[in-house]
Amino acid sequence: SERASDRIPPDAGIAQLREGAQLCRDCPIGENATQAVFGEGPAAARLMLVGEQPGDREDLAGHPFVGPSGHLLDKAMQELGWPRDSIYVTNAVKHFKFELRGKRRMHKSPAQQEIEACLQWLDRELDVVRPAAIVALGAIAARALVDRPVGVMRERGNWIKRTDGLRVLITLHPSALLRGPPQEREAAFAKWLDDLRHASRYVG
Ligand code: URA
Ligand code: SF4
Repeated sequence: SERASDRIPPDAGIAQLREGAQLCRDCPIGENATQAVFGEGPAAARLMLVGEQPGDREDLAGHPFVGPSGHLLDKAMQELGWPRDSIYVTNAVKHFKFELRGKRRMHKSPAQQEIEACLQWLDRELDVVRPAAIVALGAIAARALVDRPVGVMRERGNWIKRTDGLRVLITLHPSALLRGPPQEREAAFAKWLDDLRHASRYVG
């Protein structure tokens, strides 16, 4: 069956793909979100960071990783000496899935079928950017990128080689660090930096 991305020419760049994703309703998430939040960064980037899905703030702003998780990611990139504008930053799922609790829009994890439906866009981003390596931030990104189950806590800091040869570094999603016990945050952040540092050779 035809997918939304099949209507976008094969030689389309990121801007044209972003427009296409705005019209996508290939899974139910697209109905309730404000807008699709596509990846951002140079098409010539050697490193791609992949998160889960836009959050409340990203959904409203239309840009990936601009909320609390994004702030922690920015802090990590600063510590690592990774200029954010040299990295392509995106998500496995392009629309925000949430549950209303009063006035609050609470994050909901995407279902496997939704991750699979949205993979068409991440695949197109990979075709355009052709990164040398990818960082999977959390289990949803890992599941989207690697065709076997990945235990994030067991495999964090390790590279997984895909069947197409692309290397995927497994680590935690920043929201996992934000949810952790406050007295352990500093150590958890340092450990996260140790994971991410494995990808430093692909930056700059
Ligand atoms: N969490 C994500 O996975 N991606 C974002 O863009 C924001 C929060
Ligand atoms: Fe399409 Fe992905 Fe949005 Fe679902 S989440 S409607 S597959 S862009």
